[in-house]
Amino acid sequence: MVKTIKPTMFSNDALKPSLFYYTGVIMTEFKPNPSNPLGLLLACPVYKISPLLCLKSIANIDVFIKDESHRMGLGSFKALGGVYAVATLLAEKWFETTGDKLNPEQLMSDKFKEFSGSTTFICASAGNHGLAVASGAKIFGAKAKIHLSEKVPHEFEQRLQQKSAVVIRSGKVYEDSVEAAMQDAANGNGVLLADGSWEGYTYAPSLVMEGYTVIAHELYEQFMQAKKWPSHVFVQAGVGGLAAAMAYMIRKYWPQQPEIIIVESELAPCLQVSHHHQKLITVAGDDSIMGRLDCKAPSLVAFQALEKAQVRYVTVSDKESIVATNILQEKNIGTTPSGAAGLAGLLKMLKTKKMKNSGPPSDFHPLIIVTENKL
Ligand SMILES: Cc1ncc(COP(=O)(O)O)c(C=O)c1O
Repeated sequence: MVKTIKPTMFSNDALKPSLFYYTGVIMTEFKPNPSNPLGLLLACPVYKISPLLCLKSIANIDVFIKDESHRMGLGSFKALGGVYAVATLLAEKWFETTGDKLNPEQLMSDKFKEFSGSTTFICASAGNHGLAVASGAKIFGAKAKIHLSEKVPHEFEQRLQQKSAVVIRSGKVYEDSVEAAMQDAANGNGVLLADGSWEGYTYAPSLVMEGYTVIAHELYEQFMQAKKWPSHVFVQAGVGGLAAAMAYMIRKYWPQQPEIIIVESELAPCLQVSHHHQKLITVAGDDSIMGRLDCKAPSLVAFQALEKAQVRYVTVSDKESIVATNILQEKNIGTTPSGAAGLAGLLKMLKTKKMKNSGPPSDFHPLIIVTENKL
């Protein structure tokens, strides 16, 4: 049985949306202001809170599912990051040029679109981040150029072209496309808007992550409404942006603290390995069918934020992610192995000796995030 928990918006005073669009703060460490993306989204006609479902009887337990598969018509949570970052960077450019701060309504004006026409955003993507950046560029009148490795499914290329983005196939694997996007921007062809971050490049990816904080904020409202909080939160990671944004928000705002478990593909466990060595490590490995999680290098900002948030790590195999995808499909939640990886992490925990011997404790109420729609 699926129960949907309907939220009341914004009961938390600390998280009231901004009235004015916010400009010009340099973030070197991840200290988001969740009011900023909320302020923008409330002015956005396609914004809706994504559903929180309570699914009975997955492996005989009740599982909370935050369903991001229809987010803003773009099919994944990534919509929250890329669109918001594009808007913020353009608003900052406007401020530098005119001295005026924009409010969210002005962002939709023809005058602003005309102003944005001279900016091209460049990024690499496993699919979803590129779609978010291309959509943001289209909405606000800018241009987008997206580098995809040859591994990225053709569907993404088509959807990107429908958003008027220029698509370039760059290299064999995700990391090749990241290099190509960096080079393209360094050649003066546009503004790099990556979702990963590294030494000397942290601001734009921090904005992307700031956009993702909306998910944890919505969940805050939804759990307040349900008067029930999860005991465990399973978040899948590629470069770690989503996981870090979730962990930051949970630790800072949620009244009841869950265990946070970061789920990575066993073929790309870059955050777990980096945690183990206490520094950023790029891992090597074969391709994973969890294509959007198959990032071999972690994001610096995300890694640092996760180190502060007391999280645990688990890896899942391709096979385990397929099992999880099929279970969700049986419950009419269509997703991919990347989108179902959180459930794969949960199922793996349920198979541990301790859980098998005595069963999950009575207060075991896990939350998973279904991060994308099926392709
Ligand atoms: C569907 C999906 N799930 C999870 C992730 C992981 O997010 P991050 O790279 O921020 O860790 C991505 C990243 O592209 C994604 O597209």
